[in-house]
Amino acid sequence: MRIAMIGTGYVGLVSGACFAEFGLDVVCVDKDERKIAMLEEGRIPIFEPGLDTLVARHKEAGRLSFTTDLKAAVRQSEAVFIAVGTPTRRGDGHADLTYVFAAAEEIAEALEGPTVVVTKSTVPVGTGRRLQRLFRAKRPDLAIDVASNPEFLREGSAIEDFLRPDRVVCGVESERAHDALANAYRPLNLIETPIMFTTLETAELVKYATNSFLATKITFINEMADLCEKVGADVQQVAKGMGLDGRIGRKFLHSGPGYGGSCFPKDTLALLRSGEQYDSPLRIVETVVSVNEGRKRRMVRKIVDACGGSVAGKTIGVLGVTFKPNTDDMRDSPSLVILPALRAEGAKVQAFDPEGMREAEALLPEVEWCAGPYDAARQADALVILTEWNVFRGLDLGRLHDEMRRPVLVDLRNIFDPLQVTQAGFAYTGIGRATTPAA
Ligand code: UDX
Repeated sequence: MRIAMIGTGYVGLVSGACFAEFGLDVVCVDKDERKIAMLEEGRIPIFEPGLDTLVARHKEAGRLSFTTDLKAAVRQSEAVFIAVGTPTRRGDGHADLTYVFAAAEEIAEALEGPTVVVTKSTVPVGTGRRLQRLFRAKRPDLAIDVASNPEFLREGSAIEDFLRPDRVVCGVESERAHDALANAYRPLNLIETPIMFTTLETAELVKYATNSFLATKITFINEMADLCEKVGADVQQVAKGMGLDGRIGRKFLHSGPGYGGSCFPKDTLALLRSGEQYDSPLRIVETVVSVNEGRKRRMVRKIVDACGGSVAGKTIGVLGVTFKPNTDDMRDSPSLVILPALRAEGAKVQAFDPEGMREAEALLPEVEWCAGPYDAARQADALVILTEWNVFRGLDLGRLHDEMRRPVLVDLRNIFDPLQVTQAGFAYTGIGRATTPAA
């Protein structure tokens, strides 16, 4: 089966490479010549563990190719996947579908025979129907079937999530669309992955409902963490007790500085807009969005409090600036709010991140970037753990203590054991757990 994948971002490139892994012939298309040139040379424009090897293997086998020529790619394909970005439209929170409809126009022009056009990008409910109308109007001469196949991969575990998904969701309105998606995902039958066929609107909504529910789950445990700090409970134990209930499940119950990334923030906002558009207000999601935004500022207060009430003239070391570990992605990372706020309160901020600094430099101009975690701790009046990269879990606490001006550790991801840290001579502040003075 031959497919075209339009868009070589996090979703498009991973999906293209994984479909090649499933044995399909895949042509990945992007307008960005620089990106395509990089991919042609075997270089990967994003950091995603294992993606370089997967792309190289299938490029070598001739199953995966890259081009800027959408027309040529689309012509020979049985299915065309749209995996372009659908960022939040500045100002009103709607998903910006400019790239989706631009791709659709080009696809309509290029098609020469019956084809299935699949939206893999996260698109608001009703977009598939709109695309169907566009293709009917543009190419009444051709049978173009629109389908929805939202992606659930997580950055940092994207390949695993694509190759061994909990489920595949397909919105189809024709036999041809059903068969095209069933063929594309056939290898998953071997591992009995549930492949759900439903309508366009239902498939589109499953994606937004899933991401918004996960964002809700995180925000719930974050508020429980605040209460734990007041009543002297331990949020990690609360999360454990909750998660042992089969109806809740233990995942996505890690409290932290608030969710970020390229999806939860934009998908929750876009779902709110859909709720307004169809006069069905989503008050829980509305609260999740505002609580999460407020949480980043609460984290600034937590850091200031840990420094005795002021950071003016102090040096704050920060470990981790990406929105989560195992990615270089800085989109909507809590660091983009927290670090400038610390600067605004007069602190000097020095930071280290294993993968994010290249992206972060342009976004956080007033931060001093360090070569490693101990450099970020040097002469610091406090050290803040903002992203839970594994490399931080094994840091030598004695060495950190010697580097710092004042032994204050603010662990916004609860990666350390408070007892161990206080015994190493630090005053410890975590999330949803007791703040403890140095032993
Ligand atoms: C998310 C969805 O998980 C994925 O299914 C969808 O396809 C894209 O959006 P992603 O944004 O890559 O994936 O990362 P994810 O691991 O979901 O984390 C999102 C944010 O939530 C991060 O900022 C992370 O730090 C935060 N998070 C996650 C928590 O604070 N606590 C948790 O328990 C889990």
